[in-house]
Amino acid sequence: MNEEQRKQQTKVMEETSSADKKSVKEKDYSQYFQTTFVPPDLKQAKKRGKEDISVHYDFDIPEDMKGIGKGKKFLIRTYGCQMNEHDSENMAGILLSMGFESTTLTEDADVILLNTCAIRENAENKVFGEIGNLKPMKRDNPGLIVGVCGCMSQEESVVNKILQKHQHVDLIFGTHNIHRLPELLKNAIFNKEMVVEVWSKEGDIIENMPRARKGKFQGWVNIMYGCDKFCTYCIVPYTRGKERSRRPEDIIEEVRHLARNGYKEITLLGQNVNAYGKDLEDMDYGLGDLMDEIRKIDIPRVRFTTSHPRDFDDHLIEVLAKGGNLVEHIHLPVQSGNSDVLKLMARKYTRDHYVTLAKKIKKAIPHASFTTDIIVGFPNETEEQFQDTLSLMEEMDYDSAYTYIYSPREGTPAAKMVDNVPMEVKKDRLQRLNALVNEMSARKNKAYEGTVVEVLVEGESKKNPDVLMGRTRTNRLVNFRGPKSAIGELIHVKITEAKTWSLNGEVTEIVEVK
Ligand code: SAH
Ligand code: SF4
Ligand code: F3S
Repeated sequence: MNEEQRKQQTKVMEETSSADKKSVKEKDYSQYFQTTFVPPDLKQAKKRGKEDISVHYDFDIPEDMKGIGKGKKFLIRTYGCQMNEHDSENMAGILLSMGFESTTLTEDADVILLNTCAIRENAENKVFGEIGNLKPMKRDNPGLIVGVCGCMSQEESVVNKILQKHQHVDLIFGTHNIHRLPELLKNAIFNKEMVVEVWSKEGDIIENMPRARKGKFQGWVNIMYGCDKFCTYCIVPYTRGKERSRRPEDIIEEVRHLARNGYKEITLLGQNVNAYGKDLEDMDYGLGDLMDEIRKIDIPRVRFTTSHPRDFDDHLIEVLAKGGNLVEHIHLPVQSGNSDVLKLMARKYTRDHYVTLAKKIKKAIPHASFTTDIIVGFPNETEEQFQDTLSLMEEMDYDSAYTYIYSPREGTPAAKMVDNVPMEVKKDRLQRLNALVNEMSARKNKAYEGTVVEVLVEGESKKNPDVLMGRTRTNRLVNFRGPKSAIGELIHVKITEAKTWSLNGEVTEIVEVK
């Protein structure tokens, strides 16, 4: 533990003891110091320092931990966004390198890790439900290791609640110290006490962690970590730390490696990918430059997510317009159609700015599908302001949208705002918005009827194993009958019927599209 972490630990211990006398009376925290006890601190997580981020290429599993998992199985449950899925692949890679095998059955697992999401309250409730469900399993099998990691672990309130109510949890670690998993797991296995190690300050970039990719033909490629935008409702800048870009040469090498291994689609990941490169002080290099290089790599489809409208520059638009393997799908979250609400959200653009940018993108990439994220019921949102969101949906003619009811996140500025909008009103707005989104999506899908589209076949449909499912370049879901051998291939499908959220089709050609 370094000096900074030690100071932080003492501070949080003091705060915890004054803020929560009851729990301290019942519990003697000193026991945790026998192993590791570094709890999170949201105030610390908010700070943005100027110190350089180093990149490490020397990750290795310590010799004495390589065999720890022999004969044992692990299960990782992932609750969050693509970034969490990406992190789970790293954790799986580490565990496999320690000799563990993976399992999908809870009852077979010797180690269960819950990789959590803190974005909304219901995401957190789901995890607490699961932590509760694991209690009887832990009672029947005391050797089972239950770990909680991911974004929720970065929150003080969550760690305090686990310490107070869920003593059967063995290990808590955060998003910045995944590479410490071997040591932390060893501590958890060999000590009786709960091991807690959460860094509130982002760490360095570790390039060569082992990786067990879930997809054999679709892969995540993280291009940057963290977020500096601090939208007032959002917990991510606190749980993921400051923006840090990976070196372009490391990203390109990873994409080349995936191409060599037959991957058909990659998704470049970041909380705010448009800010890519801003922190690379030795070079003037942005997302447009990166995409322009990746465009030349022989991989059929390249996606990216998520874009923040503020950093979407002309060079990027110019590069995306070149097409090729850069697919025609732009996900550009707007959050609200009203400029006053956008200001309170600290999105740092107005409705007009957004519309101007979106129209510029649409003009440059005319066949692109356009999707967005919307939050309804932000504190004090009026009916008129909500109407602006509805009218923006129509004006932008989106293909689809992810819609959410605002959820206050402790520690964020919006959580302190007085909110006069009752929950029934928020729910009603969500319903009205969803009705419009469904209608728009159905209308957009209708236009596909009779056309032939390129589909990357992802697997069997969830509802019917006799039916295959895949996606178009524009990210539309297509269901069709075809041979299982087509899974992982790019094929041509003729769309026969449009539904609200998907398309039905029939295969016209099972040859790979180039
Ligand atoms: N970095 C991405 C967002 C990641 S979170 C971006 O800026 O686009 C995905 C979506 O969750 C956000 O776009 C927002 O619509 C929603 N969201 C984030 N915080 C929320 C909150 N506190 N309540 C409700 N929805 C939220
Ligand atoms: Fe959250 Fe805003 Fe950052 Fe997206 S850009 S992760 S919404 S703070
Ligand atoms: Fe959730 Fe963390 Fe992703 S809060 S959305 S898992 S960055």
